[in-house]
Amino acid sequence: MITQAMTLDRYLWQQQKAFNIPVELSILISQIGYTAKILTREISRAALVGQLGLVGDKNATGDAQKKLDVFSNQTIIEAFSDTGLVAALASEELEMAKFMDCRNHTPYVLCIDPLDGSSNIDSSGALGTIFGVYQRKTYNGCCSVEQDILRSGTEMVAAGYILYGTSTVLVCTCGHGVNGFTLDTSLGEFLLSHLNLQCPSESKYYSANLSYAQEWQPHIQKLIVHLNQQHTSLRYSGALVADVHRSLIEGGVYLYPSTPDYPDGKLRLLYECAPLAFIVEQAGGMAITETKRVLELQPLSIHQRSPLIIGSKATLTLYEQMLQA
Ligand code: AHG
Ligand code: MN
Ligand code: MN
Ligand code: MN
Repeated sequence: MITQAMTLDRYLWQQQKAFNIPVELSILISQIGYTAKILTREISRAALVGQLGLVGDKNATGDAQKKLDVFSNQTIIEAFSDTGLVAALASEELEMAKFMDCRNHTPYVLCIDPLDGSSNIDSSGALGTIFGVYQRKTYNGCCSVEQDILRSGTEMVAAGYILYGTSTVLVCTCGHGVNGFTLDTSLGEFLLSHLNLQCPSESKYYSANLSYAQEWQPHIQKLIVHLNQQHTSLRYSGALVADVHRSLIEGGVYLYPSTPDYPDGKLRLLYECAPLAFIVEQAGGMAITETKRVLELQPLSIHQRSPLIIGSKATLTLYEQMLQA
């Protein structure tokens, strides 16, 4: 595949032909690309148009909502309203599932973290969006949280993230490898920039909020000691997307482990851990809770949390050996 002049839409068309990807899934991802352009614009001018700071409410997982969290969520909803693509939506910023269009032929369920790393907003740090797509299961005119949304990650048909960093990069998979597209803002197009991404096996970096390190399980602490002994450099951005993207490009591991007070850690399974696990596995990396493969977890509720260790295969394999020792 040539990378020159490979717009996201042209790539999706090729994927459609090569792997029988349904046209509706291509359009869904293309529409995510459109929301990424809107968010790129709004994030970059947030300080100028009164979009910094808090709204004053908390979301379902207790996070103080920022204005850009709410804007991002609304942008997603508007991008998929009346498209006949998304039957049901689970979002970090919506307490309940939103049934958008439960007519029989509406094919997909979207799980999304509209804006990841929102503590970085006011200091112009990296931000992200994370999404996972499932084929809808119900076809009787009504949608169901249990049947359509609470699905194991192994059933995901597509996943992706957008990193709003020094450039905006959209990384996605439909289960046939991982590719990355960089937004050319002068053209308003995502162009293929990272063909067939492969996560390096060894970790050059690790990312974790070490202020909790003393509360982690002994085997996690042992891994951290090992990484420090190897002079694996610490990089922690406060945005999961940015840290996982670095791990994918350079080799690395991101950890958000359990603590006694938070036995499931902080991150949310459906719209943070599982989509990133799908992408990283597709790129040859690994993603586990602390003991299990993330993609095999069966969610019991929309905002369920899960511990996460994700990234380079050699590091995760070493961790598993430490666990079994
Ligand atoms: P979100 O902004 O979508 O709520 O996600 C925040 C997540 C993740 O992006 C980040 O790595 C982590 O929370 C940071 O948590 P700490 O501030 O506890 O380190
Ligand atoms: Mn949040
Ligand atoms: Mn997040
Ligand atoms: Mn978020």
